[in-house]
Amino acid sequence: MKVLVVGSGGREHALCWAIARSPKCGQLYCAPGNAGIARVAACVDIPADGLGPLVDFAKREAIDFVVVGPEAPLVAGLVDRLERAGIKAFGPSAAAARIEGSKALMKDLCAKYDIPTADFEAFDECDAAKEYIRARGAPIVIKADGLAAGKGVILCRNLNEAFAAIDHIMTERSFGGAGDNVVVEEFLHGEEVSFFALVDGTTAVPLVSAQDHKAAFDGDEGPNTGGMGAYSPAPVMTSELQERVMRDIIQPTVNGMVAEGMPYKGVLFAGLMIDPEGHPKLLEYNARFGDPECQVMMMRLKSDILEMLLACAEGRLSDIRVEWHDEAALVVVMAAKGYPGPYAKGTEIGGLEAAGELAGVTVFHAGTTADDGRVLADGGRVLGVTAMGGGVAEAQALAYAAVDRIDWPEGFCRRDIGWRALHRP
Ligand code: AMP
Ligand code: GLY
Repeated sequence: MKVLVVGSGGREHALCWAIARSPKCGQLYCAPGNAGIARVAACVDIPADGLGPLVDFAKREAIDFVVVGPEAPLVAGLVDRLERAGIKAFGPSAAAARIEGSKALMKDLCAKYDIPTADFEAFDECDAAKEYIRARGAPIVIKADGLAAGKGVILCRNLNEAFAAIDHIMTERSFGGAGDNVVVEEFLHGEEVSFFALVDGTTAVPLVSAQDHKAAFDGDEGPNTGGMGAYSPAPVMTSELQERVMRDIIQPTVNGMVAEGMPYKGVLFAGLMIDPEGHPKLLEYNARFGDPECQVMMMRLKSDILEMLLACAEGRLSDIRVEWHDEAALVVVMAAKGYPGPYAKGTEIGGLEAAGELAGVTVFHAGTTADDGRVLADGGRVLGVTAMGGGVAEAQALAYAAVDRIDWPEGFCRRDIGWRALHRP
């Protein structure tokens, strides 16, 4: 069959890499793709948010199945438009994708369907929000409602920080329209874990857990990023805990979305906090695979990803079995110096072949472009050096051995990806 993947990040490279191995995959396209994706798929020069051109391309090329990677085209309604044009697609409708796009919607769903989450209140008015904050006290968490490129969450240690956060979001409108409403939320303590499930409207199939490292620098210091590395599985996620998350969080969400008239189809990415007593609470939902979590998931997946995504889109998830390698996988993100602030583009990256030759290593590309046989950096997060090993320690050693073969003086990476798993009591 003819498959089109939409996106250009490390997540989409990992998806293309896995889909290309499926016996079902005839021709594989990616829009817009990157230099690494170009080795496994035909890249099409249409941006991921070019909804009209993407639908036209899919019709013209008689694409059988479209897999949408990032959230923006989902929230904008790409899957709805493809389906209206008679093209099968993986990912939620615009209405269902609001589970990521609108924090207030997600929190209301939790309240209505008894899904464990932090206590919260939503406000569209500054003074009322501040009054509530004063009553609840600090620490407290302030979130801009709507998509704010992962920066709309402010963890406040004291009341002054909380009031400043409200002003920043609502008065100064630092996140634009995403700040019309804020969610004020209880500060949760514990260990964070990402958990993924495929959902076909009614049936949810658990995938695996992962942990990512959001801070830019070693020791979880510095500004938040899209993710500087990840590993899977997350040791905190035992099979008992996974069952509990499926029963108390994922399935009630799936049922609630049906009851609300916006059945969820696609991958449901739950950001969870596991409290010191081992109780899980939902921090957030994303309507897509994580990046870089997807890279480690695709490395660990034994089953045919294309079969899985198709079964999801066709409402047949109850028929499938998903198998994983027991090994751990770990990804180290290499980013352009300066990221997540301003950074240079166009610097040359060497050593990619040597790194990829190590057994058990795959170098996924994110912001790269090809130029006359050379690979140039073309974004903030640039490479996802991914390795599989017997455990997290082995995967980590292998991933850093591969990093050390990469010759890119203008790039940097964290040197401690996986520390949480390696320092468990
Ligand atoms: P979110 O985008 O909602 O996942 O928030 C981004 C990050 O902020 C999360 O990954 C957590 O590290 C942190 N965070 C969000 N909500 C809370 C909360 N209620 N308590 C403590 N930390 C939180
Ligand atoms: N790595 C976190 C995310 O994809 O949202």
